[in-house]
Amino acid sequence: MRYVISGAAGFIGSHLCERLIAEGHDVVCVDNLITGHRENVEHLLHNPRFEFIEHDICKPFDLPGQVHRVLHLASLASPVDYLNHPIETLDSGSIGTKHMLELALRRNARFLLTSTSECYGDPLEHPQSETYWGNVNPVGIRSCYDESKRYAEALTMAYHRKHAMKTSIARIFNTYGPRMALNDGRVVPAFIDQALRGRNLSVFGDGSQTRSFCYVSDLVDGLLRLLESGEPSPVNLGNPREMTILEFANIIRERFGNTVSISFHPLPIDDPKLRQPDIDKARRILRWEPKVPLEEGLGITIDFFRDKIEGGSSASVDARARVMNRPDQVQPAL
Ligand SMILES: NC(=O)c1ccc[n+]([C@@H]2O[C@H](COP(=O)([O-])OP(=O)(O)OC[C@H]3O[C@@H](n4cnc5c(N)ncnc54)[C@H](O)[C@@H]3O)[C@@H](O)[C@H]2O)c1
Repeated sequence: MRYVISGAAGFIGSHLCERLIAEGHDVVCVDNLITGHRENVEHLLHNPRFEFIEHDICKPFDLPGQVHRVLHLASLASPVDYLNHPIETLDSGSIGTKHMLELALRRNARFLLTSTSECYGDPLEHPQSETYWGNVNPVGIRSCYDESKRYAEALTMAYHRKHAMKTSIARIFNTYGPRMALNDGRVVPAFIDQALRGRNLSVFGDGSQTRSFCYVSDLVDGLLRLLESGEPSPVNLGNPREMTILEFANIIRERFGNTVSISFHPLPIDDPKLRQPDIDKARRILRWEPKVPLEEGLGITIDFFRDKIEGGSSASVDARARVMNRPDQVQPAL
């Protein structure tokens, strides 16, 4: 099949491309490189089944030939990026989503939107299940991201209802792995970066806020199962193993032989206090659940960042990460 993936030169998109190419599909990567990097897909550029198009999906977009699947990942995705580019963030969730939906509609292709757990805002229900409508501040500093995704979800459901399109919506919870950007403010690269440089780990607030971390190969597997499932309403994809940020900081410290300390900083505005996916729906409908233990995924991710920071080649670590994206490494159905 031929897949068109927006935002494919980013962290998750590059792993998705690898998995699809390994399965024998054709992949068209559309990315304006606002936060993504050509080097994330460099190893695929020579492959005749892979095509890279540098383009802003907020501008009209079409391409010749058949299209069977459209996956819309393009967005500013980390707090640092969407706070720096709030208008571009709203545009990619609204105008960009419309352009990708229109492409899927014209080609009669299945469509998948990567939405986010941020749709639940600072949740009053725990863990968060898909039936919870969320607690989002619509004019707060993070609203450019949260509301762009909520609008993108509404638009996707409108295309599904109006045109009977086959659409899916993944609500992704914190995902980590090689090729995350070191300086994008997300806690996994931030702690690893600080630990590798021998600096204190910056914990915001008292560190009692919780997160749940999913390794990227598990997420990619969930996304592809969802795309083929025919389920139009949102599905949570994430790892239900919840921990406080302080616990996570201590896991990182232990991995570095307790050579680094922790420093505490004021909690950012509207930072969600709790994050844990209820993945019953994914288990039931997709027969999916994460299988990579945090300790294993963290090992691969730390090695990747170590190579990057120490200026070595990340080729060997990249090769290990790629093994995790091979179809034969994917979990059997539950
Ligand atoms: N990583 C996570 O933990 C997480 C959690 C929830 C949701 N998501 C969602 O998953 C998707 C991928 O996230 P990621 O972590 O890989 O982020 P990323 O920043 O690494 O990738 C996003 C990509 O989109 C591209 N992009 C942004 N605006 C664009 C535009 N207008 N036109 C073309 N390309 C554009 C960027 O250049 C980048 O390559 C995003 O939609 C994000 O909101 C990710």
